[in-house]
Amino acid sequence: MFEFTEEQLAVRDAARDFAQMELLPGVIERDEKQQFPVEQVKMMADLGFLGMMTSQDYGGGGMDTVSYVLAIEEISKVDASCALIMSVNNSLVCWGIERHGTEEQKQKYLTRLASGETIGAFCLSEPEAGSDSRSQKTSAINQGDHYLLNGTKNWITNGNSSGICLVFAQSNPELRHKGINVFIVEKESEGLVVGKKENKMGIRSSDTHSIMFTDVKVPKANRIGEDGFGFKFAMEVLNGGRIGIASQALGIASGAYELALSYSKERIAFGKPIAQHQAIQFKLAEMATKIDAARLLVLKAARLKDEGRSFVKESAMAKLYASEIAQQVTNEAVQIHGGYGYVKEYHVERLMRDAKITQIYEGTSEILKIVISRELLHR
Ligand code: CAA
Repeated sequence: MFEFTEEQLAVRDAARDFAQMELLPGVIERDEKQQFPVEQVKMMADLGFLGMMTSQDYGGGGMDTVSYVLAIEEISKVDASCALIMSVNNSLVCWGIERHGTEEQKQKYLTRLASGETIGAFCLSEPEAGSDSRSQKTSAINQGDHYLLNGTKNWITNGNSSGICLVFAQSNPELRHKGINVFIVEKESEGLVVGKKENKMGIRSSDTHSIMFTDVKVPKANRIGEDGFGFKFAMEVLNGGRIGIASQALGIASGAYELALSYSKERIAFGKPIAQHQAIQFKLAEMATKIDAARLLVLKAARLKDEGRSFVKESAMAKLYASEIAQQVTNEAVQIHGGYGYVKEYHVERLMRDAKITQIYEGTSEILKIVISRELLHR
C-alpha cells in the first residue's frame, strides 16, 4: 500500500533539498526575530509548493495528497513555520475554493493562490469561537448584490502576509450553524484592518494576527456555495487540513529524531558515544517506533483522500497521534542533547517549541477525539 511512485519520490527529494539548502541556513534567526520568510515563500511558489494539489488548469501542480504530505514532512523537519504557511494555503484555502468555488472564483482567485502570486488566510477563529466554531459573532448582512461584514477574527495564520482571505460570518443567527457563510475577501478591501501580531512560543516566523472587519463590502459573487454553506465548508476543509498538520507534526518529530540520532553517535560520555548506552538506545527505539506509526496514519489518511474515500476519522487520528508523539519525541530529543538541547543554537530547542501548536490548531486533541468517537459511534 505504501510503495511510492517515482513522481512522489521526486517531490519528496525536491522538498528535502530545498529545506536543507534554502531553509536551514536562516531558520534560527527567523525564529528569534519572528521574521516572515518572504524570500523562502517566493522560492516555494517557484517550486510549485503553494498549490501542490490544485489542478494545473488553475495554476497548481495537480499532485496527489501523498506527494503533498511527503513534501510537508521534509519541510517541517527544518522549518515548521514554512510548512504551516504552505499547509494553510494548500489544504484550507486552495482546496476549499477548488472544491466548492464557482468557475469565476477559481479563475479570479484560485489561480493567484495556487501559483503563489499571493497567499491565503483562513479566517474562522474568533476571540470567543475557537473550538466552538459555530458561535460566530462576525456578521455578514445580506444587502442584495453584496454583504456587509463586521467583526473580529483571531489567531489568523498568514494574517498580515496574505492577499486573499476566506472569511466566515453569521448571516442568519436564528439558523445557528446553518446561517454561517464563507466569503472570499480581498485584503485591500475598505474597512479591513490587520491587528496585532501574536508573539508566539513556536512557529515564530509565520505571522499570526487578528483581523478586524468594519462594514467591509463583499460582492455576493464572492460567497462560496449556497446561502448557509459556510459551516459545512469549514468542517470539510478542516478534515483535509488536518492531514497537512499531521504531516507537519510528523516532520517536526522526525527532524528532532534525526538530530538526536546523529548527536548520540558523536557525543562522548563515560568513555563512549552516548548511543552506546542502553538508556539512550531505548529512547531512540521508542522515538523511531512512534514516528513510524504516525507516518503510517498520515499516509493512510492521504491515500484515502486520494482515492475519494471518507477520511474524516483517519485525518483526525493522524493529527491526534502525530501531534502527541511530536511532543514526546522532541522532548526526548532535547533530553538526549542534555544542556545543549536547551539553548537556541541547537535546532531541537525550536522543534520542541514548534511541536506544541500541532496539538492546538485545526482542531485541538480534545476536539479530534470528539470527531473520531462520533465517526466510530455513528457511522
Ligand atoms: N466533517 C464534515 N461535517 C461535519 C464535521 C466533520 N468533521 N463535523 C461536523 N460536521 C457537520 C455535521 O454533520 C452537521 O451537519 P448537519 O447540520 O447537516 O447535520 C454540522 O456540521 C454541525 O455539526 P455538529 O452539530 O456536530 O457541530 P458542533 O458544533 O457540535 O461541532 C465540532 C462539531 C467537531 C466540535 C466542530 O465545531 C469542530 O471541528 N471544531 C473545531 C474547529 C477547528 O478546528 N478550529 C480550528 C481553527 S482554524 C485554524 O486553526 C487554521 C489556521 O490558521 C491554522
